Amino acid sequence: MTKAWWKESVVYQIYPRSFQDSNGDGIGDIPGIISRLDYLQELGVDVVWLCPVFESPNDDNGYDISHYRRIMKEFGTMADWERLLDGLHSRGMKLIMDLVVNHTSDEHAWFEESRLSKNSPYRDYYIWRDGQNGREPNNWSSFFSGSAWKYDEETGQYFLHLFSGKQPDLNWDNPRVRREVYDMMAWWLDKGIDGFRMDVINLISKVPELPDAHGDGWYNFGGEFFMNGPKAHDYLREMNREVLSRYDIMTVGETPGVTPDEAAKYVSEHRGELNMVFQFELMDIDSGYGKWDVRPWRLRDFKRIMSKWQTGLAGRGWNSLYLNNHDQPRLVSRFGDDGRYRKQSAKMLATLLHTLQGTPYIYQGEELGMTNVRFGSIHEYKDIETLNMYREHLDGGRPEQDIMNGIYSKGRDNARTPMQWDASASGGFSTGQPWISMNPNYTEINAEEARLDEDSIFHYYRKLIRLRKEHTDSIVYGRYEEILEQHEQIYAYTRVVDDGEKLLVALNFYGEPVEFKLPDGVGAEFEGGELLLGNYPAEEGRDWRSFTLRPYEAVVIRGQSN
Ligand code: NOJ
Repeated sequence: MTKAWWKESVVYQIYPRSFQDSNGDGIGDIPGIISRLDYLQELGVDVVWLCPVFESPNDDNGYDISHYRRIMKEFGTMADWERLLDGLHSRGMKLIMDLVVNHTSDEHAWFEESRLSKNSPYRDYYIWRDGQNGREPNNWSSFFSGSAWKYDEETGQYFLHLFSGKQPDLNWDNPRVRREVYDMMAWWLDKGIDGFRMDVINLISKVPELPDAHGDGWYNFGGEFFMNGPKAHDYLREMNREVLSRYDIMTVGETPGVTPDEAAKYVSEHRGELNMVFQFELMDIDSGYGKWDVRPWRLRDFKRIMSKWQTGLAGRGWNSLYLNNHDQPRLVSRFGDDGRYRKQSAKMLATLLHTLQGTPYIYQGEELGMTNVRFGSIHEYKDIETLNMYREHLDGGRPEQDIMNGIYSKGRDNARTPMQWDASASGGFSTGQPWISMNPNYTEINAEEARLDEDSIFHYYRKLIRLRKEHTDSIVYGRYEEILEQHEQIYAYTRVVDDGEKLLVALNFYGEPVEFKLPDGVGAEFEGGELLLGNYPAEEGRDWRSFTLRPYEAVVIRGQSN
């Protein structure tokens, strides 16, 4: 396994709109982030992934970019951004930027030109088609409800938008588009950034005929014709050749619908595409027919998915590890217990995140154990995906309470309520009215409280990050071997260096105590092993081959070396 700085790093994701406001307009901004750099340094993270800060009309909170080389006015100026980069670098941290190039905003100059006429030199920057029998060119649905096509009066054709109607898809089959994107990437890299997180990068290549999707709905999910499409790998290899390979950077692709085998193609070192991808299998664990059809998840499936990725990429590529982000519910509400055992379960999940093989990604507020939110009315929600779904399902006759329950479990605004810095009005996030309501629990759950409490989730994250650095050979690079695979309540595995350190990680995923017993033949070295870290006060004389795990308990044990 080759070593690399990005394998040994911990990444912290910032959603700027909700991180820290500095000017009282209720919207987080770059000067706000700068004022919190010491906090990030105290936490100990190595890399910041900044969600989009580019000029945007904010139909999808910055994922609809109208100018790739300008900073969104609400967030500050380019000079602010440069101060941010310097502030991170001078503290020994790196910065990766969000690259959103599957689509632009419909207010981007390319699209404004493109829509003017069929002969525009920019026409072929996007995907335009004639309608069929007075309807859309095909039956694909948008990720944000309704058709993936929008009719444009100007020229009487439709354009493709896999996301909102204000996010037209770029035509990657046009070499001029690819050139523009590569030049723009190099422009940012030359400013000194340390890499990219690439938004839905496996959707850039569509099957040219754009065939109808299967299914019996009015609009159907056409993923098979645009996820990992025919040219996706060619384009990424080209991007790597033209741009990425010229810099010492890290790249992570957001890739819905990839399997470990497909992922290996994106991340295999000899192929030269990306360093890592975000897999979605775990995020789909509680989805039935689509994400809003929420089903209970089972630990056996959770473990099977994680192990499949751990072993599936071992020796072939590198995993990214995340349990939530700005599109997902809060991990403690989803996989832990955000009531009685909030602290224990948040720490247990953090232990998992930091001791698997791969690069951990912490989403802002996760280190405080921030939870999902339940707003009383749909009017308090801001997310376009949530609002479109609400309307569509209500029109389809689904009871409102059902829809709200889906939003409470899965809505993206769960992750987008502002950072909870302290117990003052608006949680120290803003002196004004926040753009989205605070989670009312900010009076108890906040950074100020967490930093003062030695036993907080925040300090536990610090310890985990330190632990990874002190045990790089085993925690970062060691082999992953799951044990007790069939157990319904415990997730346990070892991290092994041949002829070197051996660690045992045991996690109780439930609120009841459970007996842990190492299977015969595994880990005599753990008898008399040393507790490196746990989320409960240490107890004398525990036999690590057979002991009781307390509710949501996590332990990391180092085996005795011979
Ligand atoms: C994935 C991003 O994470 C999400 O927030 C966004 O809405 C879509 N891609 C479209 O850009």
